[in-house]
Amino acid sequence: MTEIDTLVPHSARIWNYWLGGRDNYLVDEAAGAAYTALFPGIVTIARGSRAFLGRSIRYLVEEAGVRQFLDVGTGLPTVDNTHEFAQRIAPESKIVYVDNDPLVLVHARALLTSTPEGETAYEELSLHDPERILEAAARTLDLTQPTALILSGILGHVADHDQARDLVRRLLDGLPSGSYLSVNDGSRGTDPDYELAQNAYNRTGAMPYVLRTVDQIAAFFDGLELVDPGVVSVPLWRPEGTASEPIGQHGGLGRKP
Ligand SMILES: C[S@@+](CC[C@H](N)C(=O)[O-])C[C@H]1O[C@@H](n2cnc3c(N)ncnc32)[C@H](O)[C@@H]1O
Repeated sequence: MTEIDTLVPHSARIWNYWLGGRDNYLVDEAAGAAYTALFPGIVTIARGSRAFLGRSIRYLVEEAGVRQFLDVGTGLPTVDNTHEFAQRIAPESKIVYVDNDPLVLVHARALLTSTPEGETAYEELSLHDPERILEAAARTLDLTQPTALILSGILGHVADHDQARDLVRRLLDGLPSGSYLSVNDGSRGTDPDYELAQNAYNRTGAMPYVLRTVDQIAAFFDGLELVDPGVVSVPLWRPEGTASEPIGQHGGLGRKP
């Protein structure tokens, strides 16, 4: 196993800090607090992203009948993880989690608490190796059946847009018609302080994360049928209860024809 680096902030751990978790180190807390001082809205963004994930999974299970999930860039376990969202509604759901951060692997046991009817698995692999991800996922999922590919807050870690689109395409190529893509990522153009804080974070030595334009995020869904209301700021995507204000995190859900 790769050694855990406690000297530079890590995406999974800083995200955990903003979500109110305790699975982070001093270096993450310091970077998280410095970010929040420049742009306090990041906490709402992290929570808004998780809430979108929950609503998109609910749609996938209840409305689209999906029972298989491939969640790449899982992050550290939190209050509600993909399998908990899905198995609460459909206990037979199967989930494969993928992340390349060694601390996520250490905590993976919390991701493997499947219902007896369903199944969960964790694979330590990189998004940059989509074919290996598909090969590993096929040990748990039947990839001839519709599968939801979840990319929540990870694509910003691939700086080159064409490369990010290529990775999404290669993963979707391994999934059959009727499969879905759920993406949400940080977006540019909502608040200059967000961009300022992100640029400062990217200079800490941490794995950089790029904020994309809404059009760039929408381009991940090229060739897919977008579920209403399309690619929008995440709180506006099928809100439950009162809709809240737009934030700099855009996402959507698309079906492979
Ligand atoms: C901002 S966190 C998002 C976590 C979770 N998906 C969520 O939405 O709450 C980004 C995650 O992507 C993971 N990640 C970054 N680059 C990766 C790569 N090349 N392969 C796999 N995981 C990666 C990080 O380790 C981290 O857990």
